[in-house]
Amino acid sequence: MYVMPENFVWGAATAAFQAEGGLDCDGAGESNWLRFCRQPGRIKNGDIPTTGCDQYHLFREDVALMKRLGIGAYRFSLSWARVFPRENVLNEKGLAYYQSLVDALLEAGIEPYVTIFHWDLPQYIEDQGGWRTKDTSRKLGDFASFMAKSFGGKVRHYFTVNEITMFTAAGHNGSGMAPGLKLPRQDIYQTIHHGNLAHGYVAQALHAAAPHAEIGIANNPGIVVPLFETAENIDAARRAARFANAWRHTAIEEGSYPDEFLEKAGSDAPRFTDEEMKVISTPTDFTGFNVYTGNYCTADSESPQGFKLFPGAADHPYMDLSWLRVVPTSIYYGAKFIHELWGKTTYVTENGCSSADTLGDGGEIYDSGRIEYLRNYLRNLQRATAENIPVKGYFVWSLLDNFEWAQGFAPRFGIVYTDYATRKRIPKWSARYYSECIRSNAVL
Ligand code: NOJ
Repeated sequence: MYVMPENFVWGAATAAFQAEGGLDCDGAGESNWLRFCRQPGRIKNGDIPTTGCDQYHLFREDVALMKRLGIGAYRFSLSWARVFPRENVLNEKGLAYYQSLVDALLEAGIEPYVTIFHWDLPQYIEDQGGWRTKDTSRKLGDFASFMAKSFGGKVRHYFTVNEITMFTAAGHNGSGMAPGLKLPRQDIYQTIHHGNLAHGYVAQALHAAAPHAEIGIANNPGIVVPLFETAENIDAARRAARFANAWRHTAIEEGSYPDEFLEKAGSDAPRFTDEEMKVISTPTDFTGFNVYTGNYCTADSESPQGFKLFPGAADHPYMDLSWLRVVPTSIYYGAKFIHELWGKTTYVTENGCSSADTLGDGGEIYDSGRIEYLRNYLRNLQRATAENIPVKGYFVWSLLDNFEWAQGFAPRFGIVYTDYATRKRIPKWSARYYSECIRSNAVL
């Protein structure tokens, strides 16, 4: 048996813009993602999650479903524009939604894990410069403080921000994420710096407003895996991981941008102050990481850095998206290197895959590919815990099929199928698999 530690947290995750729907309900404000979706050609098939999964209206049903599956923790994010549709103007109904969701989870015995920011920025903040200005970082801290106080101690776990490079670099370098800008390299690095800073301000705000809570990031460090598990290659991969994350995760953990990075970036390097670096590296209780794939590495005495990176062979197995290369060891090395490089305890804040799920004749979704994907990754996570690498929990991405950003509704990441026409939820076979693992506290 591949047994997990006692008190291991088995969770499921979603994010506000992807799962809530209700974007035109009860006074919700416009976010930069909604504005982006409304621009022709931005989103596959022109999809817009105005209703989508509609968790805004169906959250009680979703909580009951999680309870039936035995899920112990739910990770969801807050829509800033739902709570504050205009600057400093509170929407009571928006706030009440999150308070009701937290209460419903607690009543069901499911621990709420709240992500303060998962990419959707109020459009009025975008209009004031969005991630191009550090005012946004500060304002996100204020929002976090307000929300933590409004939960009055009921929420005991917070994630500051989710995947910094995706709402900064990928939104400003032409990679097809909101706000859809294409800026020069210095400006792009600057947005990343502001994202790092936002994490720091939010961590400080949460420490002050929710001193009882544990706090950490849900980031997407680039994960490096040794192709050969020898001491020399593992060592090279660890160094490569630190370097691959120089301008993002490494800066947060170490409080400085590594010299090699600053030299390479030259005049395009982000501008920052010592004070800001202190904010960025505000101590946190854990480091959460989202993991889907990894890059391979070998030791290489010929290269100046002593390692070489490989993305994987042309015929390497992929799940149902072009970037979703199957690298099960990435979860093990993600947790191991975060612990070894920076001494941190981790949560796997997201792991999962899209597959081309279809409803069978009997109304079932037989997603054997996803089951094997999850099993392989979870076994590698169990390997980490068996070696006493501190991993507190795992959140499958996702509870439900939902809005996959620029890819719209086409990719299906859920362990539960969403029928978008009827909003009906249909647990896939992978939900049954995950549920059985949870009940045995082991990877089956
Ligand atoms: C990570 C992001 O946090 C999440 O929003 C997204 O849906 C998944 N990756 C899958 O791409």
